[in-house]
Parts: sequence; structure tokens; C-alpha cells
Amino acid sequence: MSATKPKRYTITAALPYANGPLHLGHIAGAYLPADIFVRYLRLTHQDVVFIGGSDEHGVAITLRAKKEGISPQEIIDKYHYLNKETFEKFGISFDMYHRTSEKIHHETSQEFFTTLYNKGEFVEQESEQFYDEEYDQFLADRYIVGTCPICNFENAYGDQCENCGSSLNPTDLINPKSTLSGQSPVLRETKHWYLPLDKYQPWLEEWLLEGKKGLWKSNVYGQCSAWLKAGLQPRAMTRDLDWGVDVPLPNTEGKKLYVWLDAPIGYVSSTKQWAKEHNKNWELYWKQQPREEDNSTLIHFIGKDNIVFHCIIFPSILHANGEYILPENVPANEFLNLEGKKISTSRNWAVWLHEFLEDFPGKQDILRYVLCSILPETKDSEFTWKDFQAKNNNELVAIYGNFINRTLVLTHKYFGGMVPERGNLQTIDEEVLNRIKVLANEISASIENFRFREANALMMDLARTGNKYLADTEPWKVIKEDEDRVKTILNVALQIATSLSILSEPFLPFTAAKLREMLNIEAIAWQNANNEILIASGHQLNAASLLFEKIEDEVVENQVKKLHEARNETMHESKVIAAKNEITFPDFEKIDIRVATILEAEKVKKSKKLLKLKVDTGIDQRTVLSGIAQYYQPEEIIGNQVCILVNLAARVMMGVESQGMILMAEDHDGKLSFIKPIDIVQNGSQIS
Ligand code: MF3
Ligand code: ZN
Repeated sequence: MSATKPKRYTITAALPYANGPLHLGHIAGAYLPADIFVRYLRLTHQDVVFIGGSDEHGVAITLRAKKEGISPQEIIDKYHYLNKETFEKFGISFDMYHRTSEKIHHETSQEFFTTLYNKGEFVEQESEQFYDEEYDQFLADRYIVGTCPICNFENAYGDQCENCGSSLNPTDLINPKSTLSGQSPVLRETKHWYLPLDKYQPWLEEWLLEGKKGLWKSNVYGQCSAWLKAGLQPRAMTRDLDWGVDVPLPNTEGKKLYVWLDAPIGYVSSTKQWAKEHNKNWELYWKQQPREEDNSTLIHFIGKDNIVFHCIIFPSILHANGEYILPENVPANEFLNLEGKKISTSRNWAVWLHEFLEDFPGKQDILRYVLCSILPETKDSEFTWKDFQAKNNNELVAIYGNFINRTLVLTHKYFGGMVPERGNLQTIDEEVLNRIKVLANEISASIENFRFREANALMMDLARTGNKYLADTEPWKVIKEDEDRVKTILNVALQIATSLSILSEPFLPFTAAKLREMLNIEAIAWQNANNEILIASGHQLNAASLLFEKIEDEVVENQVKKLHEARNETMHESKVIAAKNEITFPDFEKIDIRVATILEAEKVKKSKKLLKLKVDTGIDQRTVLSGIAQYYQPEEIIGNQVCILVNLAARVMMGVESQGMILMAEDHDGKLSFIKPIDIVQNGSQIS
């Protein structure tokens, strides 16, 4: 074993808002990859601290508090403890899970602000912001709704339209309304402190665009270069809010630090707390050291929605401070979808981790394994319960579990659970021992390059290799004529099993621990996983027990059912969009709606959403485009009667002219459904 000095690592995983429970998307985005990486580093005996905690400021918290009718403090207490416990139970092995509402964090982030302020980094600027006169407060972007200037959606937020995805400024909204009072807000002058990102742009271009090229994942690098290409603007680091960290300047009542200033500083304060509790020096993990080679390696694990904050804004803050290290890498993941849809908290389309832990006690590793096999590392991916079942039954049970069980049971049966002496090795034995070495090295390389899906698959390959070795050597047959040969076979199989107990630990920590217990061994360093002899002959094993069990159809079917039921319940509770302004009958009379029959339907090339329909309106036959391709197949709608607005001005979309509009009912989750008469009526019948 090499006696090289351990390297120091500061590993962070995004601080989730303490405004709700964790779901599979969180885990697949940041926490599982971070934990695998950290467990690997610990097994290779590096000096690593794994930092997490709750993000307890920002409008996300106050909005939730308002919705549940309790105080922000009650919200963060509820979800901080729930999430902390959920992570622990799931084996996400944080060294510290802190919270940004703690005093040490408020002080640390104020110190950061003050340092930058004293260095003259901030630009002070007055601007006009929306103010709710009835509630006597400035309105955060999320507290303002109005009509989207891009798509005319009537419930767009001040920062984003959820219908067309455009990012907006509150002043872009047509007819803005405060969600607090429902009144139109007024513009009022307010002063804020801006981080001059434009000033840091040249430095960012050098540090990031040049320095990280080829090193950072292309999804991350691509997003960053797009931001830089668009040109950075100064960004306000203070907000008019009543929940958050106070601005440490005189006469700033009613102002707090911007949540995206204080939250990432939470990594630092969390490390401080850990250092305090464990008698360590936090500065070694965050500050530049006299000799560059002594600097800690900082890595942020996040989901893609956090890229700009971790790759551009926080590094700029660290850079402006001057004493801190910068992230070496930010291996952000894309999104995980669920059963064909985007995960959505508001629509309750999610598998909640704390519920999984209740429904599948002791089965964390199955979920870890399945999620790891589908991590959205380069593009969005999808979780389905069918796949969960299949990977458990066909891989964990049939390969990993089966190999371990056969090896242990046979050793107990033939040799009283004692590791047998190994005789001369045959080619097949040497090949398999060699394969362990190769796989161990490949798994290391994959993990070090943040390719956890690949690493996980290689780990299963090792179990597959063991399973195949037993199938090829058939010790249960050979025992009748050649006991010595069986000793060698089981000795080799036990070396593979021991190696697996090390190499599967980052992915399947609970299973690896059980396996060590069966093998009656302590944890072994990663570097030793490819040793020829990992478990000595004569060593006594403990009793064998099953590592994995088959999951029946019914179990996963119930999970799918639960998913739909929870969603439906939430949708029933969710509020219906408010009524529009009154119109007069003559207004209504301008609208000419008819019953028509769909004669033809086909997909529009290069469009995911549009179907091109030919309809008989009774008046004429015409072509209409309809944004329903995600909900109806062309062949299933032909022959149906629908309602069509016939006097709508024609419009060209995707090179096709649409003459009118088919009427649809839109569900809360955006699903569209045709409106059709209950009885067959004559085409051209008027709707009035
Ligand atoms: N709370 C943020 C989110 O859920 C993540 C904060 S990460 C931190 O999107 F670094 F800023 F803390
Ligand atoms: Zn829009």
C-alpha cells in the first residue's frame, strides 16, 4: 500500500430549502452522487469533510409558511429535522448537517458581506421596486403575478412564467397584482447593494471558460459559457424582506441578505460548526494555504437549477473576498423524471423519500442502486417502479445476492464456514482474480471522473463475474469427486465476495456492512480491494443470511397507484384560476363556435406538440393546428366531433396555416382534453 499523504477534500451538497420533504429528484440530483464520492474518498483514506444542511431563508420558506398558515420558524423546524433524519436513514453520510438559521451562520454571512463592503466591492444603487401599500412591504418576485408578456399566460410570476418558461422581471408583467392583497402594487424607490458581476466577467472568463474547459461536465460548462456570452449584470445582494440574515449596515431595517448570498456561505458555517465539534481547523478546508498544494479540493454537488449560483455567483463572492479557495469542480446533474412526467411538488407528483423509507424499511440500498443506475448525469432520465422492481429482481437478487448466498452457504455446508485452503490455481481462477483487479481500478477511475452510473454498473459486473465463476466451476457437482478443487473454488469465490464488500460500499453501504458481518471482517481500505488474498484461509465466517428479496408485482403496482391518488387529491384541493373580467352579451356574440368532425389527423414534423387536423365545420373543410400531440394519437381522434372557434384570424405555425382553434379543457397539470357534444349533432351547429 502506498503511504502517500492524504489529500484534503471539502465536499458539499446543495442545502435543500427546509420548506418541504425530500423526493427522489433531490437524491438523484445531488445527494447520492455526493455520498458515493465521499464514501470512496473515505475508503481511500483521504482527509474529507462532507458538508450539508438546510437552506432556511428566502421566499421559498415564507411562501410555504403562508400556505400552511404557520410561522417561518415552525416551517424550518418541521422540515429541517425531517430532512436531516431522512438523509441519515438513507445513508447520506454528512459529517455535518447544519442550518442557516443558526447564529454562527448569520455571523459568518454578515462577515462575508462586511468584508466585501469594506473592500468597496459592492455598488450601491437605488431602483424602483413593486410595493404593496396595503401590506406595507416590498414584494419579492414570487409575490407578484400578472400576464406573461410572451405567451399571455395570466398567472405568470414576477421572476418566471411557468407556462412558457421565460424568465421575467416583475416590471415585465402586464397588469401585475400582489398575491398578498390582490391589489396592483406601486413602484417605490429602494436602495440595494449589488455584486458587480460585470466587473468579474474577465476574471470568470479566464478562471472558468479557460480553466475548466474539458474538466467540467459539458452540461455545466455549456450553461456557464451561455451566461458569460450573454454578458453578466450586477446582481443585488440585499432584498427588502422580513425573513433572512440582517444586512450588517446602519439604517437597513427591513432589508436582508439575498438568499443566494447567504445560502452557499452556509457551507462555510456548517464546516465551522463541524470543526468546533470535532476539534478541527475549518480554515484548512476553506482558505488558501501558504503552499498551493496544501489547499483543500472543493467540490459542489448540485442539481442543474443551481449551476449559475455555484459556478458564477458564489465563486465571484469567494474571489472578491480573496482568502478562499474556489471550486475545483461542480458536477451538476440534470433532472430525474418520474413515470413519464416531470417531478412536481406543487402537483404532488413525486416519490417522497421519507415515505419510501416507511414503505420499504431496510431497503434503502435497492433505491440507491436503482437511482445510481439512472442518474441524470448527462441528460434527464426517468424513474419507474417497474424498473425499480426489475433491477432489484434481476440484478440485486439474481446476481449480487445469489453469488454471495451460494458462496457462503456452500462454505458452511462443506467446510463448516471456515475459509478453505487454496491449492494450485487453474486458468479460470487466475482469470477471475485478475478480473477483480481490473474492475477495482476501473471503478476507481469512474468514480474519480464523476461517472457514477458506470461505476455502479462495474460493481455489479464484479458480482456477475463471481456468479458466473460459480456457474462455470460448479463446486456443487465437483464436491462428489474432488474436494480439494472445491476448496480452491470457494477460496477464490470468497476473495471475490470480500472484494465486493469493499467495492460496493459507496453504492450499497447497508449491504456492504451486512456482507462484512457475514464474512466476519472489519472494513478494508479501498486500495486493498485488488489484493490476491483478502480473506485468509482458516478464517471463520458467520452465518449466511439473504441480502435481497424479490419484489412482487403487487408492491410496485401499489406504489404507482399511490402516486396517482396523491396527485389527484392535491389537484382537487388546488385552486381554480380566478374568473376573468365581466363581458357583455354582444362581446360574447362576436365569438363563433361550431361543432365539427375531425376528418384527418397527422403529426407536424419537428413539433412535439402540434397535430395537423382537417375538419368539417359544416361551413367548409379546413386545416387547424392543435397543440395536443402529447395527449392524443392522430388515429384515435379521427371521426370525433369537437368544438371549433371558426372566426379566429388564421395563424401560421411551423409553416402551416391554422384556420381556427379547436376548444380544449385544460387540466391543472396542463393535460388537454377535447370538448365534444354528448350526442352526435350536425356539423356547423352553433354553440351558444
Ligand atoms: N436551497 C437551494 C435549492 O434548493 C439550494 C441552495 S444550495 C446553497 O435550490 F449552496 F446555496 F446552499
Ligand atoms: Zn409565458
